[in-house]
Amino acid sequence: MKYSYISHLYCPKCNNTYSHEQTKQLCACGSPLLVEYDLDQLGRDLSKEDLVGRDASLWRYHELLPVSNEKDVVTLGEGMTPLITMPTLGTDMNIANLWMKDEGIIPTGTFKARGAAVGVSKAKELGVKELAMPTNGNAGAAWALYAARGGIQSTIVMPKDAPKITRNESAVSGSNLYLVDGLISDAGKIVAQSVEEFGLFDASTLKEPYRIEGKKTMGLEIAEQMAWKMPDVILYPTGGGVGIIGIYKALTELKKLGWVEGELPRLVAVQAEGCAPIVKAWEEGKAESQFWNDSTTIAFGINVPKALGDFLVLEAIYQTKGCAVAVEDEALLEEQKKIASLEGAFVCPEGAATFVAARRLREQGWIKDRDVVVALNTGMGIKYPDTFSVDVPILQKSESIIKAIKS
Ligand SMILES: Cc1ncc(COP(=O)(O)O)c(C=O)c1O
Ligand SMILES: [Zn+2]
Repeated sequence: MKYSYISHLYCPKCNNTYSHEQTKQLCACGSPLLVEYDLDQLGRDLSKEDLVGRDASLWRYHELLPVSNEKDVVTLGEGMTPLITMPTLGTDMNIANLWMKDEGIIPTGTFKARGAAVGVSKAKELGVKELAMPTNGNAGAAWALYAARGGIQSTIVMPKDAPKITRNESAVSGSNLYLVDGLISDAGKIVAQSVEEFGLFDASTLKEPYRIEGKKTMGLEIAEQMAWKMPDVILYPTGGGVGIIGIYKALTELKKLGWVEGELPRLVAVQAEGCAPIVKAWEEGKAESQFWNDSTTIAFGINVPKALGDFLVLEAIYQTKGCAVAVEDEALLEEQKKIASLEGAFVCPEGAATFVAARRLREQGWIKDRDVVVALNTGMGIKYPDTFSVDVPILQKSESIIKAIKS
């Protein structure tokens, strides 16, 4: 049995195919490339029951991942994050079957660890020595740290307003870090120039095919954790859209393997009201989005004015009869508090947005009474200490407390 059943790369726009044995960025037509596996052979060699007892990390799915040699795997133990019920919050929003896939419980504190683990591993396998990427913070932090573990030099460019901790995480790894007075799209232009000038490997979102394979494992895990029964709805905070494309790809591959049956879950792309290009495109029934001018949101990870893979996000939504929802910053901050006080989970602002969307879709009847609903919390709240301010009384040594009354 092979470690990976990767067969080749293909273009979802023009169907061109490429070898996975040398570094490849975009298709000649400019589209991102996706990874194809020999699923027929894999299905003959492996059954889902064979996974039982494997490591509780995303590498338990190594046959469905692109790294050919186990020795090239760069790992910090990422994956198999908790899928937990949210009964009190669910009652509050009238969703009896509400679940949270908690991506805060992972190295570097966000789901970006998945894309970094798989992307860096494959880059190492292909002999990459130095990579560069623009980021809204979390991805840069994850790639810088995983690159360090894999012995690869990294150059990271992020907006100066990106969460400060991600700046520190990148810097402490020894990365070549720059801040830009602008958005991720501005960071992207700078990286593109340096890639051209210095021949660096471009690890920008979807400009290499392997990050998506790491994020795909969220979909694989949800299916396995639900005993191979798919939920009805999955909500995902969408910026570059890699996660939602990955989850769609995962569930489609599992269906082809016959490991899951029935309709795919309706996929919901959740965006911020101040940056909602996918929502606008979906509302207009378009296949691609338009650049969102002057984008702004406190949920920094989803401040992406135009995603390279927008057409793939929209396809995932259309194909699964999903939808796209925009959420205001005030509402997600309110929800963040609610989730912590009702369920004890301190989620990131992007994660909180998915719960606001679930609440609204239930109110509108789009989410039905008995639907099994999974909301993705893509990172831990403690990575964003500044989004939440508290006013706490300071006692003199001689003072005493007033008993708290839970409202
Ligand atoms: C916490 C968090 N959630 C969601 C996203 C959006 O991710 P994607 O590119 O998969 O849409 C990001 C991206 O930076 C993020 O940091
Ligand atoms: Zn193409």
